[in-house]
Amino acid sequence: MPKYKHKIISKLPKVKTTIFTTMGQLAQKHSAINLSQGFPNFEPDPSLIDLVTLAMKQGYNQYAPMAGVMELREMISEKIEQLYGRHYHPESEITVTIGATQAIFTIITAFIGSNDEVIVIKPAYDCYEPAIEVNGGVPVFVQLNNSDFKIDWEVFRSKITPRTKMVIINTPHNPSGTIFSKEDMLELQRSLENTDIIVISDEVYEHITFDGHEHESASKYDGLASRTFVCGSFGKTFHITGWKMGYCAGPAELMLEFRKTHQFNVFSADHAVQKALATYLKNPQHYLGLNQFYQEKRDLFLQGLSTSRFKIKPSQGTYFQLVDYSDITQEPDEVFAESLVTEHRIASIPISGFNTKGIDNHLIRFCFAKTNATLEKATEILSKL
Ligand SMILES: Cc1ncc(COP(=O)(O)O)c(C=O)c1O
Repeated sequence: MPKYKHKIISKLPKVKTTIFTTMGQLAQKHSAINLSQGFPNFEPDPSLIDLVTLAMKQGYNQYAPMAGVMELREMISEKIEQLYGRHYHPESEITVTIGATQAIFTIITAFIGSNDEVIVIKPAYDCYEPAIEVNGGVPVFVQLNNSDFKIDWEVFRSKITPRTKMVIINTPHNPSGTIFSKEDMLELQRSLENTDIIVISDEVYEHITFDGHEHESASKYDGLASRTFVCGSFGKTFHITGWKMGYCAGPAELMLEFRKTHQFNVFSADHAVQKALATYLKNPQHYLGLNQFYQEKRDLFLQGLSTSRFKIKPSQGTYFQLVDYSDITQEPDEVFAESLVTEHRIASIPISGFNTKGIDNHLIRFCFAKTNATLEKATEILSKL
């Protein structure tokens, strides 16, 4: 291939290979147990696969409607209304997307322009900042407290300026495994009163909460619902991250604008998978049982680490568990995570890269969306450190 010989002015000069790719590659090279990236190592429900096969055989192999298959939008609407008491009109207030990632990218692209400020709460999932920057926006960070990952709402309010166009929240929170309380949601609602700020509420782990903690969807709060895109992911809920299927729900006025970008970006998501999900969602047990399913895995993982030297606060939600390794070593988290994979064959994710200014609190993240056998093997090794 002849080379491109001219200068490339990158729109994302800071972006490197993500830590997920790096750790995934290291895990493969060292045949390690991979508890780094957030995906299950077990199969989805075979009946869901059968439903996709059936839809393909029935001929749903061409473009789906731009905003998504209507039966699926109706099921999403019903689910949100039953769980959170808010009605989103399937026609004008729900769009099916290629994972939550595409929903988030498209919302940012549709609304953020040059020098618009977007408040991002750190540590943050890594897809927000590049999406803001590629659109010319400026991420403005609010760092969660290290000890309990609580947000200081005074600090949050001090970051709001006339240029603030958007706020991105994520609850249940990756990577900390904490959940925004009702008080937090009310603080957010109050802080945004009398502004035209739009909110992205990344709720991809809405069905994975533990110990009776309730997920507080932004859709429950009048003052938030009227300015928020709630983003969901079937990948996380049905163990099908590779299918990349998600959605967003928001007020019709905002959704109209969203779809202007969506239709020229992806146009529509996989037709057969949407058909299958519309049927699969008819049984609420398919998502209501998830809390229990993952709580058992979290408990198995914690039990396995109970005699280890890691300091641990049990995760309240998501399928991630943070651990503090400072009783084992004072090495930087990236060095510790690398030695963990090369010497002990366990891959994790160091957290400093998700913090403002790379703050290193000696925390690494494990994903426990794994078979019980994998979790037992991993904790046996980790207990000996
Ligand atoms: C907080 C958060 N948001 C969004 C996503 C992406 O979801 P999807 O796979 O549906 O694009 C992830 C995946 O890890 C995540 O952890």
